[in-house]
Amino acid sequence: MENKRPDDMQRITTREQADAFIAEQIAAVKEQVGDKKVLLALSGGVDSSVVAALLIKAIGKNLVSVHVNHGLLRKGEAEQVIDVFRNQLDANLIYVDATDRFLDKLAGVDDPETKRKIIGGEFIEVFAEEARKLDDIEFLAQGTIYPDILESKGVKAHHNVGGLPEDLKFGLVEPVKFLYKDEVRVVGKALGLPDNMVYRQPFPGPGLGVRCTGAITRDRLEALREADAIVREEIDKLPETPWQYFCVIPDMQSTGIKYVDGKGERYMGWAVIIRAVNTTDAVKVTVPEIPFDVLCKMRDEIVKIPGVNRVLWDISEKPLATIEWE
Ligand code: XMP
Repeated sequence: MENKRPDDMQRITTREQADAFIAEQIAAVKEQVGDKKVLLALSGGVDSSVVAALLIKAIGKNLVSVHVNHGLLRKGEAEQVIDVFRNQLDANLIYVDATDRFLDKLAGVDDPETKRKIIGGEFIEVFAEEARKLDDIEFLAQGTIYPDILESKGVKAHHNVGGLPEDLKFGLVEPVKFLYKDEVRVVGKALGLPDNMVYRQPFPGPGLGVRCTGAITRDRLEALREADAIVREEIDKLPETPWQYFCVIPDMQSTGIKYVDGKGERYMGWAVIIRAVNTTDAVKVTVPEIPFDVLCKMRDEIVKIPGVNRVLWDISEKPLATIEWE
């Protein structure tokens, strides 16, 4: 069966096995696409990054990667994709900063499902527009991995790149579709991708959009991006990092006080919520301890962000609470 992992396929755990897999896939991709061009939506996540690095080895500039910045990425993320793929791997990379388009469409929208639909729909539109500008593409590469096939009939769980419009039907190139996540990481490492890309924590397709709850505003989103960078920097220093860790800024304010010329002035500000979780499957989730001095260090940095006056720690387990807030 085309979508069943071959029974005799060994688990890839070593560098040698990864190298053998890479050589095999390079030959298979060359055989499949010949001298035709292949398009890829490169999010910067592990799966699409590994596919990009593999295809660059196989077909070089005939891989056209498109990185869409929807304005909901974490601090430094788009820059890293550009640096690794354009500067280090010499990829044929199209970078589209569509921040204004996404944020304008999301303005005033507070329903979580509607927000997700807008982000997913707009993503396909931007990607399709880029694809139409290129007239000689014959294949679409995708970072489908084996759990996507097992769990959701070959569609990436919550994936943003769903059905492209009818006029953009390409042959599919899915070189890692029989790999489990840990194997994709071993292959990524062998391909020379940086550790913070290969061992990246999960990050939802709608990005910071699900963590800036309610109607997204640019100033609250910017505060969230800064707070997220602080939390990642501090937690990354721990000897053992949790499975996923990030911030949320809910769409609500609470009272703060600041002293101007010795006189207390009350004002309304945002609360930053720190969330860190451990899990193996994202279904059952526990909350790891974070040392109190690390929490205080994060607080001291986070409260310097304009508009923020409170820092909280979310100790909710799943079930009942989901990992994300929306
Ligand atoms: P929840 O919030 O359902 O999340 O406990 C479980 C895992 O899935 C991630 N997640 C998403 N990933 N698009 C994605 O690609 C999404 O819309 C999405 N929503 C949640 C979440 O970060 C967690 O790892």
